[in-house]
Amino acid sequence: MTIRIAGIGTSLPPTIVTNHDLEQRMDTSDAWIRERSGIGERRVSGVTSEMGLDAATKAIEDAGIGAGDIDFVLLATCTPDQVIPATSTQITRGLGLTCGSMDINAACAGFAYGYAAAFGLMLAPGGPNRVLVVGADAMSKVVDWTDRGTAILFGDGAGAAVLERHEQGDLLGQDFGVAGDLREILYCNHADTIVMEGREVFKRAVRAVTQSVKNALDQAGLTPSDIDVVLPHQANVRIIEAVCSRLDIPMEKTHNVLEHTGNTSAASIPLAMAAANEAGALQPGKIVVMTGFGAGMAWGSVVVRW
Ligand SMILES: CC(C)(COP(=O)(O)OP(=O)(O)OC[C@H]1O[C@@H](n2cnc3c(N)ncnc32)[C@H](O)[C@@H]1OP(=O)(O)O)[C@@H](O)C(=O)NCCC(=O)NCCS
Repeated sequence: MTIRIAGIGTSLPPTIVTNHDLEQRMDTSDAWIRERSGIGERRVSGVTSEMGLDAATKAIEDAGIGAGDIDFVLLATCTPDQVIPATSTQITRGLGLTCGSMDINAACAGFAYGYAAAFGLMLAPGGPNRVLVVGADAMSKVVDWTDRGTAILFGDGAGAAVLERHEQGDLLGQDFGVAGDLREILYCNHADTIVMEGREVFKRAVRAVTQSVKNALDQAGLTPSDIDVVLPHQANVRIIEAVCSRLDIPMEKTHNVLEHTGNTSAASIPLAMAAANEAGALQPGKIVVMTGFGAGMAWGSVVVRW
């Protein structure tokens, strides 16, 4: 008996900010943003708990179960509604649950961390039977809307997955790491707004993700050519292209949403997962890699048999 994803849900706030809208606010252009990042628009004004609850409700419905069947909730976020109490308690409250829940902050790598943590909890003696893993971030509230180096990249959103015990599906390999000496290349200052050295983050991200996917594949006894589906963190399409080129993985195996969402931090992997699911790519037995990186710098990859 192992663990599979039984249901997926997503949520995006209704307010759209296009690159053309940003042209009115700062010295930039739609062409520059698309060429450098692959992003065309993003959603803003989301509330982490509300988006998370909405995505969670849809994932539970997609799994064909009731909220009462969930017995643990993990929320990956770096933009909690408030620091105390944990924002996950707002999701359990909204679902009418009193099961255990907690927030995980591994920034944009949060969903991969949450996925592996859920596995660990479920496989421990007496562990939960079904864990709801949610990735939700309201990046628009921590973006400096006068800084063209960061404002163009981020957006709000949420995605959720229900993990349950089943004979189908498995976690084959995992790799997690943090380079704390690079904390200063991407962080929130005292005013709670993002400060980033974009070029440095780009370079480090490509290296870290490439190595992390390799490590997780090694552990699984697999090679890049065994991968059917890649669900990469949606930060910049050029980062995804660079990683795929280094690993010799065709871009067609990746599923991307960033053109319409921007970088939604912990929400981006489950949003990509929902896109892959809609495309029919997530069939039983497929080898799926989820990989993310972000502030910390934290990275994480999991290799899954769907
Ligand atoms: C931010 C990012 C898109 C910038 O792209 P880049 O190709 O590295 O561009 P650079 O920062 O080298 O800037 C190139 C030029 O464009 C300018 N520029 C920067 N932002 C701009 C914008 N929004 N519009 C127009 N011009 C811009 C710069 O000032 C620079 O001008 P200069 O050559 O006259 O000095 C890119 O570095 C990136 O995506 N980095 C990773 C960030 C990330 O993923 N963060 C989240 C991690 S979870």
